[in-house]
Amino acid sequence: MKSVQTATTNVPVNPQSELGSHSSHSLSLSQVMHQFGSFVALKDINLDIRPGEFVSLLGPSGCGKTTLLRIISGFLTPTAGQVLIDGQSVRGLSPSQRGTGIVFQNYALFPHMSVWDNVAYGLRAAGKRSRNQVASRVGEMLNMVQMNHLAKRFPSELSGGQQQRVALARALAVKPRIMLLDEPFSALDKSLRLDMQIEIRRILSEQGITAIMVTHDQEEAMSMSDRIAVLSSGTIHQFDTPTNLYDRPATHFVSSFVGTCNHLPAEVLGHAEQGYQLSVPGGELAITSPLPLSPGKKITLAVRPENLQVQPQSNPSLTGTVTMCLPLGSLMTYDVCLTQDCHVKITQTRTMGIKPLKSGDRVHLNLVSPQACMVFSD
Ligand SMILES: Nc1ncnc2c1ncn2[C@@H]1O[C@H](COP(=O)(O)OP(=O)(O)OP(=O)(O)O)[C@@H](O)[C@H]1O
Ligand SMILES: [Mg+2]
Repeated sequence: MKSVQTATTNVPVNPQSELGSHSSHSLSLSQVMHQFGSFVALKDINLDIRPGEFVSLLGPSGCGKTTLLRIISGFLTPTAGQVLIDGQSVRGLSPSQRGTGIVFQNYALFPHMSVWDNVAYGLRAAGKRSRNQVASRVGEMLNMVQMNHLAKRFPSELSGGQQQRVALARALAVKPRIMLLDEPFSALDKSLRLDMQIEIRRILSEQGITAIMVTHDQEEAMSMSDRIAVLSSGTIHQFDTPTNLYDRPATHFVSSFVGTCNHLPAEVLGHAEQGYQLSVPGGELAITSPLPLSPGKKITLAVRPENLQVQPQSNPSLTGTVTMCLPLGSLMTYDVCLTQDCHVKITQTRTMGIKPLKSGDRVHLNLVSPQACMVFSD
């Protein structure tokens, strides 16, 4: 598992940083762990987030994403470990002293305040802006989230998606040093979601705001993030760029959680010309592996559907029968039965003039290249 070392800088924390400051801030987590009673929700979390970076925390329900965000924001004190902003520990500082803005998973708007007052709240509390400046900033924010026309409504009079947009506007209004977003787009419909994703990304990068977004939507994480931390059961499996996560997943879990992946039980037969020869359900494959593999070793071979291709019979290859054809726009996905209890998915680009496979066809499959796979020791 990849563990990221914490780098520190010597820039002092200024809790009362100027609103509108365009300098960017780094965030580090060092050996953070958290327990609720005897339940360990987070273990040994090390993350080093660069100034202005957009990072997503991606993982299944209950893996500890919100807990980590609450620790960063200052709403929860970790059982152990440190949160550092610009290299300085922020232990004991409140969320506003830390300069963290947060959009909570359940929006957490002030129910007794109008939309306008919710967005103005942080600006007024900071006490640094005139009435006109507050009004202009609130207007700008409500415009951005397309909520100007509902400024007088109360949260109970709004839909979930509208409340989510107000929560976004409220958090962004004060130009936080670190922006924390917990599933910020989950209640929005598809077209508004895409608009808001682009808009939020643009605003944050224009203002150089470091941001951490929680999501369990891998496409959202892949399209918006500079880097993604993949979590499972309170542990970070990999912290990497979207491309590296997809191409070089560090663990079995990451390979199955990010994108679609076939996992095949395999046994190492011996050395092949470029690497190793494997016995796999349906036949044999030749692969390269960064891990040294000894004959007889049992491994899991992970292959993306686009990295398996239909070929004329060759040695080595896998032989199977097409059981299902799924046309997905420009792609065709096929389910191929290798043995009774082992199926693989393969995808091919649909090309004019090339006849697609059909159910019942016998096919020979090989890797597009010996490197186009991952090996996990079980
Ligand atoms: N106050 C609490 N007391 C006890 N256990 C808690 C508490 N808050 C969270 N947990 C547990 O800690 C684990 C992590 O919770 P967390 O809310 O961080 O998950 P999550 O990754 O945000 O999940 P989701 O995607 O469903 O929002 C869960 O098993 C949850 O039940
Ligand atoms: Mg959560």
